[in-house]
Amino acid sequence: MKRALIPGTFDPITSGHFDVIARASQLFDEIIVAPAASIKKSPLFTLEQRVALIEEATRDLPCVKVASFDGLLVDFAKEMGATAVVKGLRAITDFEYEFQMTAMNYQLSPELETVFIMSPPQYMYLSSSIVREIAQMGGNVEQFVPACVNRALKEKYATK
Ligand code: COA
Repeated sequence: MKRALIPGTFDPITSGHFDVIARASQLFDEIIVAPAASIKKSPLFTLEQRVALIEEATRDLPCVKVASFDGLLVDFAKEMGATAVVKGLRAITDFEYEFQMTAMNYQLSPELETVFIMSPPQYMYLSSSIVREIAQMGGNVEQFVPACVNRALKEKYATK
């Protein structure tokens, strides 16, 4: 069985993330979407909320599972029996950062393959922080996030 990990902070999952997950699910037998605790980023959504939103957004993709982690990606991949990491590549600005992480992960675990899936044009400039900013200022993010995330953002900012 070919199992791949899709790591990220997912604060929150966007349509761009979903696109990568859906396309990767055509290439691997099992996908584990892995939200990292990412405490340094001070996420808006708790880890439990991020897990729940990813689960709801991907519930129609049977080969997708969700499991959070809080350590080294290469260790978690080993623990999960994943042989590949899938990452989305958006604009050229992603390249330097992804290049560095892939090179370091390769040094730590050469048998773990990293696979990049290019974002389609409509998601090239999408990011979780830009979605949060638009939602916080009352803008409509419906086209950029799964429906459950749209609801969660409205609730979050209504109570803030
Ligand atoms: N669509 C929309 N947005 C996307 C995207 C896509 N396809 N791909 C990436 N993004 C956005 C994310 O929303 C995020 O936006 P934000 O900064 O506005 O929140 C940004 O791009 C960065 O995303 P990502 O590359 O997933 O990084 P991350 O910081 O969310 O997560 C980890 C990075 C968790 C994968 C990485 O830090 C890690 O592996 N941590 C574990 C510790 C470790 O092993 N460290 C050593 C690594 S060498």
